This record gives sequence, C-alpha cells and structure tokens, in this order.
Amino acid sequence: MEKIKVGIVGLGRLGKVHAKNLAENVQGCQLIAACSFVQEELDYAITELGVKETYKTYEEMVKSPTIDAVFIVSPSGFHCEQIQLAMENGKHVFSEKPIGLDIAEIKETQKVIQKHPNLVFMLGFMRRYDDSYQYAKQLVDAGELGELTVIRCYSIDPSSGMESFVKFAGASDSGGIFVDMSIHDIDLVRWFTKKEVQTVWAIGKNAAYPELDEVGELETGTALMQLEDKTMAILVAGRNCHHGYHVETELIGTKGMLRVAAAPEKNLVTVMNEQGVVRSCSQDFPERFREAFVNEAKEFIACIKEKRQPEISANDGLQSTKVALACKESFETHKLITIENQEETTK
Ligand code: NAI
Repeated sequence: MEKIKVGIVGLGRLGKVHAKNLAENVQGCQLIAACSFVQEELDYAITELGVKETYKTYEEMVKSPTIDAVFIVSPSGFHCEQIQLAMENGKHVFSEKPIGLDIAEIKETQKVIQKHPNLVFMLGFMRRYDDSYQYAKQLVDAGELGELTVIRCYSIDPSSGMESFVKFAGASDSGGIFVDMSIHDIDLVRWFTKKEVQTVWAIGKNAAYPELDEVGELETGTALMQLEDKTMAILVAGRNCHHGYHVETELIGTKGMLRVAAAPEKNLVTVMNEQGVVRSCSQDFPERFREAFVNEAKEFIACIKEKRQPEISANDGLQSTKVALACKESFETHKLITIENQEETTK
C-alpha cells in the first residue's frame, strides 16, 4: 500500500518530536513536507529528517498536491484556521491540543470537520495512548473501582523548562495554564468518567517566577470540578516542578482506588547510595510520553489507511476547551462557573 504523505506545521518544542516520529518511528507514512517561520528548523527537517518540501507559509504547504495529511503543531491560536484550511484542501488532519482558544471558532471548525466525513480528524490527547493510562482505563471500564467518586490530577512542568516555556508563552497565546496544561487532565476526567463537567472553581498563585506575570501566565493553578453525576475532580497544574515532569492521576471509586505514576518515576531502576534510596524522575514531556506520541501518530495513520475515525473527536476538543476556559474565567472573576452542555454533536 502507498505510504501516507504527511506535511508538518510547527517544528518547535513538540513539533520536532512529532516530526522525528513521523520520519523514523511510524510505518506506513512519509514525512514529506515541513512548515515553520524559522529557517534553522526547516534546515533541520531537510538534513536530519529527509524532508523534501519546506514552506515558510502554511497556506502554501496545505495546497501541495503531494500531501495527503497534515500534522498541526503550531501555536494553539492557529489550530482552528489551519484545521479548516487543511480539510478544505482535502487533507486528513492531526492537530495538537487544544483544538482552539475560542469557542465560536472551535464550533465553526467542528462544522468544517463534519462536512468532510471521509477525511480523518484526530486531536493530540496523547495520554490516552500511554500504556499505563490505557491499563487504568481498562480497569475502570471493567468496573474494578466501582463507581468513580473523586479524580485527582497533577500536571506540573519542570522548572528546568521555564526559559523555553516563557519563550513559548511570550511568542504566542498559550491560552493560559488551564487551556494549555490542565486540558490534558480535563480530557482524562471526561475519558475515564464518560461524563461532562458541570461546575468549576479555579484559583492560582505566582510565587517563584515574576517573568510569568510578564507573559500573563500562572505558575500554579488549581481547580475543583463537579461532573454531571456529582463525581468530583481536583486538578493541580504547574510550571515549577524541581524534581522533573510530574504527571500523576488518582482515581477513587466505591470499590477501590488506583494511581497512575504515584511518583513520576523514570524507569524501574532504584539506586541505593549515600543519598539514600533514589528513584530518578522523568524530566519532560518528550521523555514521559515518548511511546504515547508514537502510538497516537500510528493510530492517525492507521485510521487513514483503514478509512475510520479515531476515538478522540472534535467534540472532545470542544468540551475540554469549554471546561478549561471556564477554569480561566473562574480564576479571573473569583466565581464558581457553570458550563452549558446542551447543544453538542457527537463527532
Ligand atoms: P513552539 O513555540 O516551541 O513552536 C511553535 C512552532 O510553530 C515553531 O516552529 C514556529 O516557527 C511555528 N509557527 C508559529 N506560528 C506559525 C504559523 N502561523 N504558521 C506556521 N508555523 C508557525 O511551540 P510548542 O511548544 O512546540 O507547541 C506547539 C503546540 O503543541 C501548541 O499548540 C501546544 O499546546 C502543543 N503542545 C502539546 C504538548 C502535549 O503534551 N501534547 C506539549 C507541548 C506543546
């Protein structure tokens, strides 16, 4: 079977990870094109990844007849228009999270996606493709925990990544900590419970990094959420983790509880030395979710080949962004926010 020819937009912190996977770790596809504003990134794509076509503008790339599919890894504010443009040019689309930063624009984009049922659309909630999260999901779906009552989620970026984060947040609107970071946890909460979030209360604090105030970002944000069936979720999102990249999830049910990555361990090695019993931690998202990024790309390519849609839909993008924006609003207004969940479609 012919290889699926992919063009990628964005070769920054995450774009390089996806690009390398598409070029080297995902069978059945060829990374043929790349688009970035930065010439060094395009040079890297040509020399290191064997990319044949490079573009300074997305509009040009998406019109290339050689491309079957696009991988969108540009800043979040561009996702909606780039998804729409790709679909209108007959390309399958993988877009990084969040699907967008504005609800009206996301709904428009959802309509364009619905108009193209033969094109695959997938959103980058890679945690769903992590082995441990998949195992936890199987247990929950099999009823091993009984009925879920509380979900506790930690997502804290390493303080060692502060400089690159400030650059990222200064260059374009990330949407803020709830839209940029908590959105992964919001997706997990919806995935595990199959329920929608109804009310949120969010607060936050900047302590260690005044430079975050300058780019309008929070160092630590927390949210308390109630779902439509009264399940509770507690989210902690941060940018100041000194031991590495701390992503942890706890599920408490009527029959038991489980934790995914109770400590963010790097691997199974324990070192015993003058410092005591030492377990190294995963240091950043490319390390912790290395396999998940590969797995989600494999699923995207498999969906194109098998003419089916992936589990993660545009509606998951819309719903998660609604909740994240409600958290932002709650933080900014100091109010409990109720989310409308009436009119959504299923795709
Ligand atoms: P970054 O700032 O490091 O890189 C952005 C890239 O996009 C650069 O190559 C830049 O030249 C290019 N670019 C910017 N505007 C563009 C435009 N209009 N057209 C074409 N190219 C453009 O950003 P980073 O951290 O790689 O994030 C990119 C996206 O990936 C964001 O939406 C972010 O939310 C998401 N992300 C997801 C993660 C996950 O865990 N799934 C982790 C990190 C980022």
